[in-house]
Amino acid sequence: MTVEKWNARLSLLTLLLLLIHEGYHLYAYMTMYYNPVLSKVTGYALAASLALHAILSIVIVFGMHDSKKIAYKKRNLKTVLQRISGAMIIVLLPIHIFSFGLLQSSVGGVGFVLTELAQILFYGALFCHFSTSFSNALVTLGWLSDRKKKRVIDIIVTTVSVLLFLAASVIITMTHTMIFNGQAVT
Ligand code: HEM
Ligand code: HEM
Repeated sequence: MTVEKWNARLSLLTLLLLLIHEGYHLYAYMTMYYNPVLSKVTGYALAASLALHAILSIVIVFGMHDSKKIAYKKRNLKTVLQRISGAMIIVLLPIHIFSFGLLQSSVGGVGFVLTELAQILFYGALFCHFSTSFSNALVTLGWLSDRKKKRVIDIIVTTVSVLLFLAASVIITMTHTMIFNGQAVT
């Protein structure tokens, strides 16, 4: 239980760092006031917290659950979505980190479109994981026990996730297209 509680605390810290990182980039891309140091600091702090959370989660899922609990979780769609999205985040993260270079070297080609599509998929996986996981962390930490309240929180978090996904996909993709078409005033 202690490892699960530490993982829940870490997952909330990861979430906070994700909101800071995304918030900064949405602001920077909308105002064209882009500071590469802030981009890297917020990005790598998030990556470090995410790596610890991913390691602890893998330990919990493969090392600590008894077979009965695993059989139960296999039937739970939310848990399946949580795990598939977690795996997708790990696979797509390198493309995200190297995206700027990948876009620069493939302007006008199919690689440019594929990189942008991979980024949109990455944002989708992140916010799918967020909306299927957030209320679980509150339960793990003993802050939430009422089923009705959990449902309300899930609905609010899913709505916020869809908005953050749309904002990231539209604003970042449009700005990249403008920058690489040479129309942006930087
Ligand atoms: C697990 C989640 C994420 C991690 C670990 C992460 C990590 C990073 C890192 C390390 C960088 C710096 C790359 C470099 O210049 O060396 C970066 C850049 C960037 N991140 Fe993230 N990021 C995440 C999610 C997001 C989200 C949700 C957004 C949506 C706004 C976003 C937008 C950006 C942008 C716009 C850049 C600048 C490079 C570019 O134009 O693609 N990131 N990220
Ligand atoms: C920014 C990215 C991420 C955020 C904000 C995040 C957030 C969360 C939250 C809030 C929970 C609920 C914790 C609980 O139930 O107590 C959770 C659980 C989980 N996460 Fe993540 N996560 C992220 C990335 C990842 C990645 C990359 C993986 C891949 C290994 C992953 C795998 C898991 C697993 C397997 C669980 C369930 C753990 C359990 O059953 O106790 N997460 N995550």
